[in-house]
Amino acid sequence: MTDTVLTGITTTGTPHLGNYVGAIRPAVEASQDSTQKSFYFMADFHALIKCQDPDAVAQSSKEIAATWLALGLNTDNAVFYRQSDIPEIPELMWVLSCMTAKGLMNRAHAYKAAVQANLDEQLDADAAVTMGLFSYPVLMAADILMFNATKVPVGRDQIQHVEMARDIAARFNHHYGETFALPSAVVDDNVAVLQGLDGRKMSKSYNNTIPLFLPEKKLKKHINKIKTNLLEPGEPKDADSSTVFQIWEAFATPEQTTSMRKEFENGIAWGEAKKQLFELINEQIAPARARYEEIINDPAYIESELAKGAERARSVATPLLDKVRSAVGIRTYR
Ligand code: TRP
Repeated sequence: MTDTVLTGITTTGTPHLGNYVGAIRPAVEASQDSTQKSFYFMADFHALIKCQDPDAVAQSSKEIAATWLALGLNTDNAVFYRQSDIPEIPELMWVLSCMTAKGLMNRAHAYKAAVQANLDEQLDADAAVTMGLFSYPVLMAADILMFNATKVPVGRDQIQHVEMARDIAARFNHHYGETFALPSAVVDDNVAVLQGLDGRKMSKSYNNTIPLFLPEKKLKKHINKIKTNLLEPGEPKDADSSTVFQIWEAFATPEQTTSMRKEFENGIAWGEAKKQLFELINEQIAPARARYEEIINDPAYIESELAKGAERARSVATPLLDKVRSAVGIRTYR
């Protein structure tokens, strides 16, 4: 059986270089292969857990859709859709909720971290914890099981959620009969986890990101803000502990990486290294940035792409949900 690859992008924030290198670039590349079955979607229901600003959710969703399209996702091969366009997903979530042990959800890292933070503050354990946060892994399980996904590319922080989806699927299959494929998380060690401006992992939660489609001047400004040390021009610099070098590596060819490593040994000035980094990145993303500007100003085009994706997604979701309904005893009386 060929694998079905699926991953979701929570629609909070603006896509940044870390998202590009870690998730979007490999997915766009994979989408060129017509023998691969893949599903990519805007997880806008998931966004409501973290973000209760309606305009921010709407804006982020549109930006993410435009970004993936601008970068050349092949939407004839990959199924590209918005989670909220697939009503079968929340319906499946309910059914799965009834097969999910509460104890399993108690062990979810995100929930446990929220509880611990409350206890540290001497608050009630569940202060400000919503049912959305608590049952987030069940919604994610519905996303995955709805399309019989077998491979789920995610960051390390999401591995547990994919394992929970697998547990839920196995329990359902055991109780009601073989219905769902069992998914596995795929964490690609070759895909760079990009460092942010402060040297920690680039992440919107650390506020250290470089947005992907900044105008040139702003891109340059952001790159100039990458943290370095006080070594002067001419003093040898350690490439391996440098964020500038780490980002360079994510965009450069192996030859370019080797030659930059030499430049570090030879004491390249930080200003010069950053200038070259800007040129490298800018050259690679400039065509997609122009396309992005066109697409973001053409919402009808985005909607038509998503309508096509939703239709393809529902052609898989509808029959599977029928099967699920029948399996659990939600059946016509005739
Ligand atoms: N929770 C994931 C994240 O924050 C996004 C997501 C939602 C997802 N549904 C998914 C990822 C299904 C993989 C499969 O990164």
